[in-house]
Amino acid sequence: MRVVRSATDLRLEGSVGLVPTMGAFHEGHLSLFRAARAENDTVVVSLFLNAAQFGPGEDLERYPRDDERDARLAEQEGVDVLFAPAADEIYPPGFQTWVEVEELGSILEGEHRPGHFRAVATVCLKLFNLVHPDRAYFGQKDAQQAEVVKRMVGDLAVPVEIRVCPTQRDEDGLALSSRNAYLSAEERERALALPRALQAQDRSLLNGLKVDYFEVANFEPRVLAAAVRVGGTRLIDNVILEGDNR
Ligand code: PAF
Repeated sequence: MRVVRSATDLRLEGSVGLVPTMGAFHEGHLSLFRAARAENDTVVVSLFLNAAQFGPGEDLERYPRDDERDARLAEQEGVDVLFAPAADEIYPPGFQTWVEVEELGSILEGEHRPGHFRAVATVCLKLFNLVHPDRAYFGQKDAQQAEVVKRMVGDLAVPVEIRVCPTQRDEDGLALSSRNAYLSAEERERALALPRALQAQDRSLLNGLKVDYFEVANFEPRVLAAAVRVGGTRLIDNVILEGDNR
């Protein structure tokens, strides 16, 4: 596996699958790497902690980072290129161009995290323009993110196919997330109310947690989506209500 710091050194061959990430790999990321490996000649994983998508008071400073472990895991999964650009390659000096997916980006997560999807859409478009992937892979766990990216790609005719892969869960049902690392054992136990409430479609199971939203979203596929706070940790999850997730 090559670790590449600048897009000028990418030199990719054949069909290219890109998995955009912010690092702190878990089985959810690895499942995306495997999906990309199965469908492309060359697999690129980008690792860029996109500070712009974190709001004031969010967890940017404590977001888990372990580049060496990430590189080892990516290599084990047969990733060809780990693309870890410097901040000024993504946001060059004087940067002032942002992508706003207006309606989709302002509901649910967008309502609670203003500016979040503007920064996600912008970094994804930038990565697509640097890597030129044939396919890009996202997790169903971040259903709204996948929907925003699909909308942006459609609206701006970006030549990339967006693949959305199933949510990976621990045995207890909690969706895998880099943020699960923040949970104490007691908080993790309380966090299990989130997948249970979604599965049962019963908001009352979230009693005792701070609920940002618990709502049906008319994405493709339609989902019941929720965000809760467990102690200082904010968790999101969703279940598909109809259709499939391909
Ligand atoms: O889901 C993530 O890890 C990030 O939002 C993404 C897609 C890599 C953009 O920074």
